Amino acid sequence: MRLSRRELLRTTAAVAALAQTGQAQGKEGGRPVAISSANGLRAVELALRRMQEGADPLDAAVAGVNLVEDDPADMTVGYGGVPNEEGVVQFDACVMHGPSGRAGAVAALEGVKNPTKVAKLVMETTDHVLLVGPGARHFATVNGFGNENLLTEKARKVWLFWKQNLSDKDKWLEPEPDRYPPEVKEFIEQFGWDDFRRPQSGGTIHLSAVDTRGDLAGCTSTSGLFFKMPGRVGDSPIIGAGCFTDNEVGSAGGTGRGEANILVSGGHLIVEFMRQGKHPREACLMTLERIARTTREKRLLFANGRPKFDISFYALDKAGRYGSAVMYAFSTIGKRRQFAVADASGARKEDCAFLFERR
Ligand code: GLY
Repeated sequence: MRLSRRELLRTTAAVAALAQTGQAQGKEGGRPVAISSANGLRAVELALRRMQEGADPLDAAVAGVNLVEDDPADMTVGYGGVPNEEGVVQFDACVMHGPSGRAGAVAALEGVKNPTKVAKLVMETTDHVLLVGPGARHFATVNGFGNENLLTEKARKVWLFWKQNLSDKDKWLEPEPDRYPPEVKEFIEQFGWDDFRRPQSGGTIHLSAVDTRGDLAGCTSTSGLFFKMPGRVGDSPIIGAGCFTDNEVGSAGGTGRGEANILVSGGHLIVEFMRQGKHPREACLMTLERIARTTREKRLLFANGRPKFDISFYALDKAGRYGSAVMYAFSTIGKRRQFAVADASGARKEDCAFLFERR
């Protein structure tokens, strides 16, 4: 069932109402500012500090994101990321630099825990924007990046457990619940069983930054959907979807189901809404509403016509106004969705605006 006309009018009205009330998203105003997905609290803090010290906003953004890429505890980004269906870790990442209007990206890159560093080199040292798979790997190698094993023991056990539970028609035996490894129990507690069986991945990091002068940058990094098909590329390295920066307007990016974001060019659409004068939060909500309205495949919709997947957007404009919005207020395990932001008031998490409260 598609979203009914009544439901559509309701969501459109909700977008307008939320944009007016501001849904209590903190104080704002003043630069520099860095905004990111909730997993980037330390990242926005570092990016802000670097900008306060005079760093270029993209250098600041990449430094922040590198912290999360280096952290094995984050299983959606960099080292420790959940592998693809073959048990191989493949990364997607991009950077976009407002002042120069340039961008760089890598997709399905293996063996480099900081794909954003490679994406930045694509931007700075080539005539191209996006390198993928073995080409991206070769580019990393000639630039001095080693080939690291990025599959942690926890990620390996989670992948093996997924494989064992995939089908009752193969030769793998499903472990009894009392034999689940502790790492797997921990993973299920964090992401929920549904996400585990039909994984959407609530992770990825996007970080947008605006410095004291009003120069902007954006950066996105991910290990992608859990157990994705080898070579699958999500929205994160797609300029205009997982990230888009226009130095005259603002910067935006997304996390969540990349396929849905690619289909509306979410990052670019948010920036275009901001160009029309929308507040970053309203621009994010309008883009979510576009996704809800244009998703037509039955397998992706609940009986009430709402999307079965989560997607989150983050944006800031040249003036330093910021906002974030999500499809659903709560994750599948009932956690209120938040984003991270750092400005003169410090680094903190705030609740995201949302298109739908419940599924
Ligand atoms: N948004 C991350 C992905 O779809 O890969």
